[in-house]
Amino acid sequence: MKRIAVLTSGGDAPGMNAAIRSVVRTGYKKGWEVFGIREGYDGLINAKFVPLGPRDVGGILQKGGTFLASARCEEFKTEKGRLHGMRSLNENNIDGLVVIGGNGSQTGSYLLHKLGFPVVGIASTIDNDLVGSDVTIGLDTALNIALEAIDRLKVTGASHQRGFLVEVMGRNCGYLALMAAIAGGAEAVVIPEVDIDPEEIASTLRVAYERGKSHAIVVVAEGAKYNATRLIEYFEDHQDSIGFALRVTILGHVQRGGTPSAADRILASRLGAGATDALERGEYGVLVGWVNGEVKTTPLKDIVGKTKELDLRLFELARLLD
Ligand code: F6P
Repeated sequence: MKRIAVLTSGGDAPGMNAAIRSVVRTGYKKGWEVFGIREGYDGLINAKFVPLGPRDVGGILQKGGTFLASARCEEFKTEKGRLHGMRSLNENNIDGLVVIGGNGSQTGSYLLHKLGFPVVGIASTIDNDLVGSDVTIGLDTALNIALEAIDRLKVTGASHQRGFLVEVMGRNCGYLALMAAIAGGAEAVVIPEVDIDPEEIASTLRVAYERGKSHAIVVVAEGAKYNATRLIEYFEDHQDSIGFALRVTILGHVQRGGTPSAADRILASRLGAGATDALERGEYGVLVGWVNGEVKTTPLKDIVGKTKELDLRLFELARLLD
């Protein structure tokens, strides 16, 4: 390895900057030249390379987002787009690429690897849905932002005897919602992995009201069949006896924009170093993730197109603690 490049792709996640910094500085210490690619795979296709030395990544560790910028690139989903990407890597004499991102981004890494390019992925998404990493960069910060919102909603909820349907991100995976429900003391949680009858949620709220609770929280994953908007529509038609007046709060992208937590900075720093180590060992076509308390690599072929399974015992726990 002499020259490597790093890009961030897909939805940004707090801690991505810490991962870039780690790739740049550990790569530099190995005697390599490191380049950043701006705007994800789009920037790869259009050769948006910027040389990055250790000083260029100073002051970004504590910042959310990604200073390289990110993109969801439709063109890279086509073979033509990927061949353009390969050409731009070859024209810039890049020997190895690090891709920081989630499921869609790592599918891109895998397809580039299949074209014969040395690629290593780093597990980063607030959804925590990637196989090959117990936790992903951004999850902890996003979870803490959701918790802060829930804590505040409880305060205003208690002043008015209201129930809040709080929608958190998570397109296909309810991990964030489930953890926010447990840590936030929610009365109920709705996730894509478990079908619910909205009447069950209504009954949980009713019982909570009758037990004298001053407020109630239902955490809803955006990807659930009954997301917050659909649930409130249902309740509008059937609500009469619930007790609490209901309101909806959709947290959306607020969860992605936070200052990375200590856990995310440390995880990102370790995975970044793990990625340059993998490139140095000549271990390509792998995802660098956090598995059983250690930095581990998993072949990309074993993770693409899959969604990490949720431990449904945690769903039961959330129910027990309502
Ligand atoms: O994949 C991360 C994520 O934040 C999902 O939770 C969410 O569904 C999606 O990205 C939103 O994507 P975008 O930022 O492109 O609207």
